[in-house]
Amino acid sequence: MSSFHIFAKNLITMKNIFTLLFVVLMSIAATAQNTKPQPMTQEEFEALCPTPPMGWNSWNKFGCDVNEQLLMGAADAMVASGMKEAGYEYIVVDDCWQIDRDADGNIVCDPERFPHGMKYVADYIHSKGLKFGIYSCVGAYTCAGRPGSMGHEYQDALFYARTGVDYLKYDFCNNRGTNSKTAYTIMREALKEAGRPIVFSICEWGSTKPWEWGKGIGHLWRATGDIINMWDGREDWGGHGMVNIIDLVQDLYPYNGPGHWNDPDMLEVGNGGMTTIEDQSHFSMWCMLAAPLMAGNDLGNMSDDTKRILTNKDVIAIDQDSLGIQAHLSVAMGDRQIWVKQLANDEWAVCFFNRSETEWNLNFNWNDIPEIRATGDNYKVYDLWQHKTIAKSTKKNVVNNIPSHGVLMVKLTPEK
Ligand code: GLA
Repeated sequence: MSSFHIFAKNLITMKNIFTLLFVVLMSIAATAQNTKPQPMTQEEFEALCPTPPMGWNSWNKFGCDVNEQLLMGAADAMVASGMKEAGYEYIVVDDCWQIDRDADGNIVCDPERFPHGMKYVADYIHSKGLKFGIYSCVGAYTCAGRPGSMGHEYQDALFYARTGVDYLKYDFCNNRGTNSKTAYTIMREALKEAGRPIVFSICEWGSTKPWEWGKGIGHLWRATGDIINMWDGREDWGGHGMVNIIDLVQDLYPYNGPGHWNDPDMLEVGNGGMTTIEDQSHFSMWCMLAAPLMAGNDLGNMSDDTKRILTNKDVIAIDQDSLGIQAHLSVAMGDRQIWVKQLANDEWAVCFFNRSETEWNLNFNWNDIPEIRATGDNYKVYDLWQHKTIAKSTKKNVVNNIPSHGVLMVKLTPEK
């Protein structure tokens, strides 16, 4: 072979090597491009939660006793019980899934309780057509003393995005006096930067009036201290019975709306602290308030009554109404209250709420409800618990015997 041929052959080989190198470099660049998260815009972030979120959270029933079987079982039960079909979608693990940080500051889940890691759980929940929620805290430690996100916000948000988290409940314990609005804004920015759509639940218990600053920062904000599994009352540590919470959120209706919800805390329906009638009133009122509906019971072990209450689609439709208006107290006669909620399509939900210890022998003129009188319309009256029309007109009085601690909850549709 002539020296010219050898030179030419080497040139071709070198060309091949360069081409190969070029291709390798380009594909590395493309992979890097693909893994770099595309940040969410503020507009995209705010559009994430047009109706109150619905799901299940581990805290009310299980506290720190969480593990992968519990969450995966809750996902199975959400499907099997008809709750998914009724609109529930989030399975949220509350405090105590996390145990440490590694040498690089990455959050570490409890390996005994989550031996396959959190992504395994998230993937399972997604395979059921549901979404996965997780918990953290503004402080360096959560309320249960586990590692919180202070100083690790961006790192944690990336972890959530890579794990497949769809919802973050973000608590406020051990906050070292930090400004709440700033702290929640930092995490919102971290979530947007991580690029995955994640509903952001602010949980600072109403302590710094989040209804005044939370819109655009989170999608929902706890408006009170923790709910406790009982009808009424208040504990020294800041826990509230169900009725007490209603009183605390009563005046917050101007702050509620699509994408930004007052959160009167998770449901206690089915946890045994209230009677069936009281559970039904609890659920009715949460739907009147357009509240997030986070079941807090053992989904795999529900009575028929609990299932019937949690999956009442007529009542859920009031909660999920597209206007997103929180009911307000229209008429109060001591412990006998009439709440009204304006709905889309000129409809109204009305809840006669008997908080008293005796039966309410209701015989009431619809025109004595100022909002209904003001419309001048005549309505058909549909009972949302009996699932039937109980009157063709509001020209006649509404007559009903409402048990102590019970409700009559109806939808009014204009007779055109
Ligand atoms: C706070 C929250 C509760 C729950 C616990 C977990 O009390 O308000 O809802 O998340 O922390 O430790």
